[in-house]
Amino acid sequence: MDRRQLLKQGTLAAAAFAFSRDLFAKEAEHSFLNSIDYSGIIKLSSNENPHGPSPKARKAMIEMVNKSNRYPWEITNVLREKIGAVYKLTKEHITVGAGSSELLGVVSLMAALQKGNAIAPEPTFRLWMPAANTVGLPVSLIPVTTDKQTDLQQMKDAMNKDTKMVYICNPGNPTGAIIPANELEAFIKDVAPKCILLLDEAYTEFSNEPTMANWVNEYPNLIIAKTFSKIYGMAGARAGFAIAHPATIKKMNELQPWANAGISAVSLAGAIASLDDQEFVQFCKKENEKAKAIFCTALNKAGMNFVKSHTSFVYFDTANFKKDVKEVLEAKNIIGCRTFEIGKSWRRLSIGTTEEMKKVAEALAV
Ligand SMILES: Cc1ncc(COP(=O)(O)O)c(C=O)c1O
Repeated sequence: MDRRQLLKQGTLAAAAFAFSRDLFAKEAEHSFLNSIDYSGIIKLSSNENPHGPSPKARKAMIEMVNKSNRYPWEITNVLREKIGAVYKLTKEHITVGAGSSELLGVVSLMAALQKGNAIAPEPTFRLWMPAANTVGLPVSLIPVTTDKQTDLQQMKDAMNKDTKMVYICNPGNPTGAIIPANELEAFIKDVAPKCILLLDEAYTEFSNEPTMANWVNEYPNLIIAKTFSKIYGMAGARAGFAIAHPATIKKMNELQPWANAGISAVSLAGAIASLDDQEFVQFCKKENEKAKAIFCTALNKAGMNFVKSHTSFVYFDTANFKKDVKEVLEAKNIIGCRTFEIGKSWRRLSIGTTEEMKKVAEALAV
């Protein structure tokens, strides 16, 4: 892919703005299908881990290739048991899928069958919403506060007797903001007795706040979605999981033609090895902090405000920047500066390696 095509990809992404399946499909069409060669390009669009997969995961995946003629029933259970143990739960509390997106879809289908509405913050991770709408689950979007924090009070106020699901992404995407554990626990206690509470913890490992997985036994409506795509660096391998009360997991599985079968044997092997490589996870967390600090210093120098990020991306306000940030970055082959709020000056950029973020800093020092 040449630079023009890549820039076109970035422009397409901004224009589409739907952040839906279509956008993901476009991105795939313009990158992986044509070429997976990003040499000379710094790609900061989808919060992918610039270091992963871990060396142990790579080795395990390569070894599993030769055994791909067999269905992976046993290995799926190994992963479910292993995840269960990490969260001091059982394999019956865990269901796995081809990325957490698959499971976000299953949960919204489950909510749609209850015939009502859903509530989510705005902006947030919207990939699951078009399918939710298609199966009859309209989603009311509740704006984040002026300082880009999830507005839990407004979300609670927006609930009515027909609300069947509330979606929260914590830490938030694209804002990077985090709801402190005590506030989130209070929210769970309020909301989970009333409807499904889908808590997307795709980025928790980058933060210092705990998972809410320990509440699933008490609140069967609480479903936590997690992924191997981010800190584990396996976005292309497609592996994710949900944690919930066993009765809830069973209900989710009843909506799938073949539950727990979305992950290939190769990706399962990688996911299992990843969980064993916590040293790599810590490495990625530290590197992310270092690289993020470089970017935040550059934003400060350029006079741009940003939300304190607890994730592998930063949400920043370009209003005070004298040029078009996206164009300035693209001129240096840095792609991924994206809009999530129509007509606003806020943009998101993923965090790459420290070297990549130094190049971003140089580009912004115009
Ligand atoms: C908040 C959030 N949830 C879920 C996902 C999807 O992850 P997966 O690759 O596991 O489908 C993403 C991907 O960017 C995300 O940002």
